[in-house]
Amino acid sequence: MDKKQKLEELRNKMKSDQSLPLRQGATNLAFGDGDPESELLFIGEGPGYWEDMKGIPFVGNAGALLNQLLSLIGIPRNKIYITNVIHYRAPENRDPDPSEINAFKPYLDGIIKIIDPKVIITLGRFSMAKFLPGVMISNVHGKPSMVDVNGKEITIVPMYHPAAALRNGEVKLKLKNDFLKLPEILTSTNNDKKNDKITKKEEQMNLI
Ligand code: URA
Repeated sequence: MDKKQKLEELRNKMKSDQSLPLRQGATNLAFGDGDPESELLFIGEGPGYWEDMKGIPFVGNAGALLNQLLSLIGIPRNKIYITNVIHYRAPENRDPDPSEINAFKPYLDGIIKIIDPKVIITLGRFSMAKFLPGVMISNVHGKPSMVDVNGKEITIVPMYHPAAALRNGEVKLKLKNDFLKLPEILTSTNNDKKNDKITKKEEQMNLI
């Protein structure tokens, strides 16, 4: 099965999961969107009005800003994969509570496993807290760190949420600057992986 088929299977499983919170009040499941083969996985908070209407993450105002920021660094929106911490809309877009985040966790972990990204960009504090608990976004935004994600080292880059950037010009500038760093972070992550492979090969050669 390829990644697209695996994601479809997971989406169907999620759709039929009656135990998921927020299901009753939602119009659609906003599972994920984009290129399953992408090296970049973006994780936001949860669907808002338009995402709930269309069943696709980041298609409202925050999504429009995200698309602009991506085009600034020459990455088309359809070349990334994007999802959220929770996949049904919370009433009035309130913050998700810990039990809700926990209920969606196996599905988010499933998406991460299938996409198998090189870099995860967290948008906002809820997705950041999944990988970097206890940190403050003002201290760590735009700074990559290697995190063990379900047994695999992945580069995590925390960023401000685009919705926060729409409310505050200073945050918008910070988000833009963090986006401008992304191509270099991706290149150096790829180089590190290449060097890792070379070192492993050399180690194997030394064993022979
Ligand atoms: N904000 C999010 O965190 N996710 C979306 O899908 C839309 C807005």
